[in-house]
Amino acid sequence: MDYQILMNKAEELSKKAYAPYSEFRVGACILTANDKIFTGCNFENSSYGLSICAERNAAGAAVAGGETKFKAIAVYSPNMENCYPCGACRQVLHEFECDDGIDIILKDKNGLNVRKLKEIFPDGFRL
Ligand code: THU
Repeated sequence: MDYQILMNKAEELSKKAYAPYSEFRVGACILTANDKIFTGCNFENSSYGLSICAERNAAGAAVAGGETKFKAIAVYSPNMENCYPCGACRQVLHEFECDDGIDIILKDKNGLNVRKLKEIFPDGFRL
């Protein structure tokens, strides 16, 4: 799978973000172990703490689609280069890592950057 395709979908989703409070828009696109694709955007709430990140929205869509092993996730924000997943989202993604781990695909002015979830979130919690 060409990671640029995943990034393009993440960028497309960032346009759907519901972020009237922070005005920080994020889109995410997950590639599952079965080569299915699920997307999500952040959506905020008047009760700020209830806001949901794009990555967790995409993860929920994947699980609802019957997919619980993820190979990669692209994250895009027009507001920031290399928009890394927050700590809460790293823990959520950790739950669904496939055997080879999850590639975190980010973007800056020079192009795509790929990191492993394990690199940026070692020793995550799992029951
Ligand atoms: N946000 C995401 O959707 N993903 C991230 O990786 C970082 C933060 C959202 C949450 C909130 O709606 C806004 O960005 C500002 O924090």
